[in-house]
Amino acid sequence: MHIERYDGDRDALLPLFALADDSPTQIVSYIRVGEVLVACEGGEVIGHAQIVETGDAGTFELKSVAVTQALQGEGVGRALVAAVIRRCRERNGRRLIVSTATADIGNLRFYQRQGFRMCRIVQDAFGPSTGYPEGLLVDGIPLRDQVVFERDLGAD
Ligand SMILES: CC(C)(COP(=O)(O)OP(=O)(O)OC[C@H]1O[C@@H](n2cnc3c(N)ncnc32)[C@H](O)[C@@H]1OP(=O)(O)O)[C@@H](O)C(=O)NCCC(=O)NCCS
Repeated sequence: MHIERYDGDRDALLPLFALADDSPTQIVSYIRVGEVLVACEGGEVIGHAQIVETGDAGTFELKSVAVTQALQGEGVGRALVAAVIRRCRERNGRRLIVSTATADIGNLRFYQRQGFRMCRIVQDAFGPSTGYPEGLLVDGIPLRDQVVFERDLGAD
């Protein structure tokens, strides 16, 4: 497996973006921005990570990350986050943020294992007004609130 910058057609990555976000409306609003890295194996793209600039100088956002379902749990996601951290450092980033649903316990574990700390909760970030179907559950927990994580890029 290797990770490289992706300069191809972003629409080809839609299935991966859709794994990371249940709102097609939201995906359309950001799929073309920033920089995308992809994990490849045997000529196939098996994962992606999108880095976008924020309004704060030195702060980047990991906007979207996903690994093909059949290959999850094999270290590809960890390698993608490590590559994103290296890339943001190259771009003089000091802080990386990422947000996810508070309902997604697996993601809460994943990001904390990669050195992220929780810094903010956004109540009702997910719902019909932001393009998410009413009544979505993740492991029985209503998809409703968002947690923002941050990682100091100076720290290992
Ligand atoms: C989240 C995701 C990118 C992680 O990638 P991955 O290749 O499956 O993760 P890795 O194999 O690199 O796992 C790294 C660590 O996180 C843990 N982890 C990853 N996903 C997890 C989950 N769903 N539940 C619990 N732990 C998880 C792994 O167990 C591993 O732990 P370890 O450090 O103790 O070994 C991947 O599962 C995915 O694509 N999920 C669907 C899309 C998504 O939710 N994206 C994030 C949206 S915010």
